Amino acid sequence: MKRLRNGLELPEIGFGTYKAGANDTEVVTEAIHAGYRLIDTASVYGTERAVGKAVRACGISRDALVITTKAWRTELGYDQVMRAFERSLGRLDMDYIDLYLLHWPARDDDVDRDSWRAMERLYDEGVVNAIGVSNYLTHHLQNILAVCNVLPMVDQIEFHPGYLQQDTVEFALNNGICMEAWSPLGRQRLNEEPQLLALAASHGTTVQAICLAFVRQSGLIPLPKSSSAERMRENLKSDITLTSEEMDIIRGMLQCGWSGEHPDVAPDKDVKVPD
Ligand SMILES: NC(=O)c1ccc[n+]([C@@H]2O[C@H](COP(=O)([O-])OP(=O)(O)OC[C@H]3O[C@@H](n4cnc5c(N)ncnc54)[C@H](OP(=O)(O)O)[C@@H]3O)[C@@H](O)[C@H]2O)c1
Repeated sequence: MKRLRNGLELPEIGFGTYKAGANDTEVVTEAIHAGYRLIDTASVYGTERAVGKAVRACGISRDALVITTKAWRTELGYDQVMRAFERSLGRLDMDYIDLYLLHWPARDDDVDRDSWRAMERLYDEGVVNAIGVSNYLTHHLQNILAVCNVLPMVDQIEFHPGYLQQDTVEFALNNGICMEAWSPLGRQRLNEEPQLLALAASHGTTVQAICLAFVRQSGLIPLPKSSSAERMRENLKSDITLTSEEMDIIRGMLQCGWSGEHPDVAPDKDVKVPD
C-alpha cells in the first residue's frame, strides 16, 4: 500500500478502464474479482457507468475499493469542475469518490488554479477522499503548489520504460506527491524492445511483467489495462524484482516517447465527454 499525505492508502497496482471494450461492466467486474482494488476511470472514457455497476454488483464492500475518476480538459475552471464532479458522481451512481483528479492541465495557469480551488472545496466538503492531478509536469505542479491550501496528493502521468519523465517524477516524489503510471505497458509499443525481451528471457517472464516491475521499483503505481481475464490476472500477480543493474539498463534504453498528447501542446481537436 502507498499512503497519501492525508493517510488514504492506495494499492500498489490499479486497473485502467480506458477502452475497456463493449462489455466494460463485465471487464471491470472481472478485474475486481481478480483482486484489483484500485479502479481508474474518467469522465471522458465513457466507463464511469460500467465502473459503478461493477462496484455495486461485485460483492466487495465499497470501502475496500478505491475508485478514481477525472475531470476532462473541457470541464476545467471552478464552476465547470464542480458541475463535472456532480455529473461523474451521477454516472458512477455513488455518493462519494475516493480519488478525484484534474485529467490534464489547461495550458493556462489561472484556469488551473481555479480548477484546483474547486478540488479543494470538494475535498473540504468530504465528497472526495483525496484530490490530485494528471499529466501535470513540474511547472504545472509548481503553479498549484504556490497558492494551494490542500496540496495535490497524486499526479498520474504516462510512465513506462520508453518514457521516463524523470524531472516530473523526481519533483513530485520529492514533494510528497504519490505518482501513478498510465500506459505502464507502453500500450504495446515495447513488446519487441530487445533489452526488455532479454530481461524477460533471463527472468523467465514477459516484457509486460518487466515493465510493471520497473514502474513499481521506480516508486509509481502502475495502472495496466486489459480486457482479458487471463492477462489482467497475470499483471496483478507479476512480482519479479529487478536488480539495480537491470533498472539502469532500462533507464538507459532508447526512449520511444509519449504516446498521446503533450500537456503543453494544444490538441488538434478535443474529445467530448460522453453523457
Ligand atoms: N491520465 C491519463 O491521461 C491517461 C491516459 C491514458 C491511459 N490512462 C489510464 O491508464 C490505463 C492504462 O493505459 P493504456 O490502456 O493506455 O495502456 P497499457 O495498460 O500500457 O496497455 C494496454 C494494452 O496492453 C495490452 N495488455 C495488457 N496486459 C497485457 C499482458 N499481460 N500481455 C500482453 N498484452 C497486455 C492490452 O490488451 P488486452 O486488453 O487485449 O489485454 C492493451 O492493448 C488506462 O486504461 C487508463 O485508466 C490514463
